[in-house]
Amino acid sequence: MKLNDLRVCNLPDPVGYAMDAPVFSWTVEDAAGEQAWASVTIRCGEENAFESGETPDADSLGWRVELPLAPRARYDYTLTVCTTGGERASESGFFETGKRDEPWTARWISPMASQASAILRKTFIATNEEGAARLYICGLGVYEAYLNGNKVGDEYLAPGYHAYDFHLAAQTYDVSGFLRTGENTLEIWLGEGWFKGRLGFEGGYTDLYGDSLYAIAELYAGDALLAKTDETWEEWTSPVSFANIYDGEVYDARIVPRKAGAVRLAAPEHCGALCDRVSLPVRGQDCFHAEPIRTPKGDLIFDFKQNLTGWVVFNAPLPKDVRITLTAGEILQDGEFYRDNYRTAKAEFSYISDGTQRFVRPHFTFFGFRYMKVDCDAPVEAAWFKAVHLRSDMPQTGEVTTGSEKVNQLFRNAVWGMKDNFLEVPTDCPQRDERLGWTGDAQAISETACQTLYMPAFYRKYLWDMRAEQSVLGGSVPNVVPRIKRDMIGEHGSCPWADAGVIIPWNTWRYFGNKELLAETYPGMKAWVDCQRKREEAIGGAHLVKDGFHFADWLALDNPQPGPFGATDPLYIASAYYYRCARIVAESAEILKLQEASEYSALADGILAAIREKYFDQNGLCAIQTQTAAALAIMFGLTTEPAAQGKALRGLVEANNNHLNTGFVGTPILCPALSMTDNHDTAVTVLLQEDFPSWLYSVNLGATTIWERWNSVLPDGHMNPEGMNSLNHYTYGSIAGWMVGYLCGVRPAEPGYRKAIIEPKPDQRLGEAKTVLRTAAGTFVCGWKCDGDAVRYEIEVPFGASAELSLPGQETKSLRAGSYTF
Ligand code: BGC
Repeated sequence: MKLNDLRVCNLPDPVGYAMDAPVFSWTVEDAAGEQAWASVTIRCGEENAFESGETPDADSLGWRVELPLAPRARYDYTLTVCTTGGERASESGFFETGKRDEPWTARWISPMASQASAILRKTFIATNEEGAARLYICGLGVYEAYLNGNKVGDEYLAPGYHAYDFHLAAQTYDVSGFLRTGENTLEIWLGEGWFKGRLGFEGGYTDLYGDSLYAIAELYAGDALLAKTDETWEEWTSPVSFANIYDGEVYDARIVPRKAGAVRLAAPEHCGALCDRVSLPVRGQDCFHAEPIRTPKGDLIFDFKQNLTGWVVFNAPLPKDVRITLTAGEILQDGEFYRDNYRTAKAEFSYISDGTQRFVRPHFTFFGFRYMKVDCDAPVEAAWFKAVHLRSDMPQTGEVTTGSEKVNQLFRNAVWGMKDNFLEVPTDCPQRDERLGWTGDAQAISETACQTLYMPAFYRKYLWDMRAEQSVLGGSVPNVVPRIKRDMIGEHGSCPWADAGVIIPWNTWRYFGNKELLAETYPGMKAWVDCQRKREEAIGGAHLVKDGFHFADWLALDNPQPGPFGATDPLYIASAYYYRCARIVAESAEILKLQEASEYSALADGILAAIREKYFDQNGLCAIQTQTAAALAIMFGLTTEPAAQGKALRGLVEANNNHLNTGFVGTPILCPALSMTDNHDTAVTVLLQEDFPSWLYSVNLGATTIWERWNSVLPDGHMNPEGMNSLNHYTYGSIAGWMVGYLCGVRPAEPGYRKAIIEPKPDQRLGEAKTVLRTAAGTFVCGWKCDGDAVRYEIEVPFGASAELSLPGQETKSLRAGSYTF
C-alpha cells in the first residue's frame, strides 16, 4: 500500500501560497478494500499543532482541517490512511505560509528613472547564519532575485501575470542554502513584463498598470529580519538593455553591473494590496535539441521539431562584441523562415558577448516557436543550443494511444497546445502580439484540460483574477482575464467567452471533486448568471438572451458570409449557455447546501422552456440546421428527443460530406454529441478525415500543435494569409477530451472520478485505443483492442473508486477497485 499525489490546497508541498486552512488530498495505490479512516498530524517546529485522530469521513479529494495558520510558518504533516482490511500507510509532507496578513516592514522601492530593466541591490551582514532563511518578495513587472549571485527559486517570470490592479502576489523562497555569515548581497533584477511592457491588440499599450519598476522584499533568518527594501538600497545598471513579453530581450554582457545611484521610495499607485501568491510557478520542463537547416536563401535556422513555449538557451564560445540574435518562427514557407503571423511581436532574443563563455538565457520574456532564425557574426554550432519548454508547473495526467499513429500525433498536438498556452494565464496563443487570457478559448478547452492535466491550482488563480474583474463589471465576465482596461470594444459579457465564469469552475469541480474550491469560486459563477438575468429582465427578455455582442461559434466554416462568425444564431447559442450556466449554478448551490438552489433551478427551467418554445419544432428538434446547433441541443439537454436529434446531427454531418464545419462552440461537443446518441461511427469517420476541414489535415501537414483555423496552413504548405492565424491555439484540441471520454470511454459519474462511467467504444478502423488517467481518485485504465470480430478490454479501477461498466451489447456491470479483462 502506498499513498501518492499528496497535496495541500492542490499543490505539492506549497510554500507561501494563499490558503485559509490546509485542504489535503491524496490517492492510494496497491491496496485492497476501501478507506476506513485517515488521520493527519501536523507539527509546527517542535510543537504538535494538530491531531485529527482517525477520521472516517476524511475525503481524499479534499479534506479541510481547521487549523488556524500563523504567518511565515512551516508545518510538517504526516498523513495516515487505513483500509477496511486494516492495512495502513503513512506519508509525510509540508506546507509553509507566506506573510498572510502580517504587515510588511519593508518599503516599496523603485529606480530613479523609468527604464526597461534595473537591478536593485543591497549588501548586508548576517552575524549568525541560522538554518532556515526565507525571502518574501514581489517585483514589478517581473523579477528575478539573487542572493550572493545565486538565483533564488527555480521559477521564472515571477510574480507572474495577474490583475495587478486588484491584488499583488508575493512569493516566498527558501534561501537557507545561499545565506552566509558575514557579508551578503541581495539583488532584485526587474523587467517590464505584463505590468508595464507592451501588451494588448493592434500595437497594444505600455504602462498598463504602472509607469515604473518596483520591488519590495524582506529576508528573514529564523525570526530575525536580516534585510528589507528601503531607501538604503542602490540601483545598479542591468545587462538586460531591453525586454518585454512580445518583442523579446536584448542582453548585453558587456554591461557589467555597477552602481548607478540611489533608489527612491515609491509604491505602485494603482494596484491592489500585497497578498500571498496564488499562481503556480513557471518552470522549465522538457528540452529540445536544435537541428540546423540552411535555407535556399542562405539563412541559418534551428528546428526544434516541436512548436513550444519557452526559450532557447545556449553556452557558446562567442568572441567579444559578437551579437547573436535568435528570432522565433512557427513554420517554414517554401523552405524559408516565416514570421508574418507574429504580427507586431518581434519575438527576438539578442545577446552581445563580452568574450566570456557562459550559460545564456532570456529573463523577462518568452516565445512561442518551433524554429529560431540565427543571425550571428561568428560561426555557431547547433550543439551549443537547446530549447526549454516553460509553463505553469502542472503535470500531465491523461494519456491516449490508439492504433493510428496520426491520431496519436493529434492527441500529442492537443496536449502540447494546452501545455504551451498554460503559462500564468490560459492564453489564446503563445507567439503573436496577444498571449492574453481569452476567456472563450479557455472555456472551450477547460473540460479537455481537466481530463489531461492537473488543473485545480492553475484555474484557481485564473478564477481569482476573473472574480476580481467581475467585481467592477456588475458580475459580467470580460473577454480577456486579466482585462486590458483600455479601449476594448464589446469587452465583456460575450457568449460563450463570459460563460468561462461558470463552465471552468464547474469542470474543475466535476473532474477534481474539491468542494472547497467550488465554494471559493461559486460567487463568481453566481455573479455571471445574476448579471445575465438582470439584463434579460430589464429588456423583457422572457428568459432568453436577446441582445449583445457574441463571438458565438467563432471561426466556424458554415457561414456563407465571409468572416470569422459561424452561421448558428448567436442568440440561440447565448440562450443555451444562459440555461447551462443557470443549471450549473443551481446544482452548485445544491452541493454547497445553499437555499438559493431552488431559485436557480426555477430560473433554469424557465430558460429551458423559453428556448424550446422559440428554437425547437413540434418534434422537439432544434429548428436551426447547423451541426453546432444540433450538438448544443444534445449536450446541453435542450432537446426532449436526443435520439432523433442525434440522427439529425448525423444527417447534417453526412450532408457535409462527413466533415465538420464547426467553430469554438461546436467543435468541443460535436463528437461527444454523436457518440452520446449512438452515432459513434460517424464521430470516428469525422475524426479520421484527412482533408480540409479535419483534424488530421493539420497532422498531415506536419503540425505539432493545434492550429487556430482549420486551414491555418493551406494544402500547398503556405500560411493562410489571414491576419489572425496562429499555429498554437488550443480550442480544436478538445477532440482529445472526446478520445478520453468516449473513444476510450472513461468519464466521471461522480466528482473527481470517485465513481466513473466506463463505456469504451471500439472501432475496427482504429484497431485499438487505450487511456491511462491519473485522476484525483487514482489511476483508471481502459483499453480495447479489436481481434477479428472479437474485442479484448483491459480495465483498471483504482482503490476507493468504483465504475459502471457498459460494453457494447452487454448489460451494465458495477466494478469495484481492481484489474479486469473482458
Ligand atoms: C484570439 C482568439 C480570441 C478571439 C476573440 C483572437 O484574436 O486569438 O482566440 O478568442 O480573438 O475574438
